[in-house]
Amino acid sequence: MFKHVISIKDFSHKDIDLVLGQADKMLKILNTKGSSDMLHGKVLASLFFEPSTRTRLSFEAAMHRLGGSVIGFSDPKGTSLKKKETTADTIRTVAAYSDIIAMRHPMDGAAKLASDVSTVPIINGGDGSHQHPTQTLLDLFTIKKELGTLNDLKIAIVGDLRYGRTVHSLVGALKQYKADFRFIAPELLKMPEEYKKGLKYDEFTELDVGDADVVYMTRIQAERFSDATDYEKVRGSYVITPKTLSTMKKKSIVMHPLPRVDEISWECDADPRCVYFNQAFYGVPTRMALIAMLLGVAK
Ligand code: CP
Repeated sequence: MFKHVISIKDFSHKDIDLVLGQADKMLKILNTKGSSDMLHGKVLASLFFEPSTRTRLSFEAAMHRLGGSVIGFSDPKGTSLKKKETTADTIRTVAAYSDIIAMRHPMDGAAKLASDVSTVPIINGGDGSHQHPTQTLLDLFTIKKELGTLNDLKIAIVGDLRYGRTVHSLVGALKQYKADFRFIAPELLKMPEEYKKGLKYDEFTELDVGDADVVYMTRIQAERFSDATDYEKVRGSYVITPKTLSTMKKKSIVMHPLPRVDEISWECDADPRCVYFNQAFYGVPTRMALIAMLLGVAK
């Protein structure tokens, strides 16, 4: 059993199946009683050094739904980091006040560094452009709920494949389920070589999703570019519209980790294949499962 959740690379096929099985149980709790007291008296520290809506609030909702309580911050400006305290000392201190820490940080590798100094489990809620493992677990849960399987799927991943931590984590997990990838990105934002090792994939610059079972759309992230003129070259490269949906199979889905800017037009939202808001909801049972497993109340 894992002690921290840092990278999806640490999860075997069996680990993923265990988490998704627990997430199913948590979904049943949400759909019946709405909450549980299995973590009564436990404290989650929610440390967000970078903005977030879904990850932070679904972690916090997950802890409340399990009967626990939450401390933390959503903006490091209000903490002693402003007085030049190090992130390591912040983690050491917060670990003394809590039973588990969920954190997001702009620096690649920050969650691993935190796990090296923490006396309580660390869950990585996104570190720079590196990894977003809990997003991947909820993405896998969504695919399983919507399509019934994770095996042998055709997955088109579109947009920012260079800086997108959600897609770096996702391809690593889906490799274990023999996915066939279609990477669609501008030259400037192609999937880095290190994430393509061992994958079955083709690469395209045009938005042609082929016969994909899953179209995984991503935002081109202005905040990751050091040169604004590079961002201007690629912004608005791809937009999914009802016309795109008309080329897709009846049994297929469009996912997006969100937030979206303009890469999926609002007219698509009513199409039942567009499951990105279900996906955001599935963050709650998936994160309930992870918190309960790390705290040893679910196996
Ligand atoms: N998907 C995701 O990480 O969204 P937030 O940035 O809102 O947490």
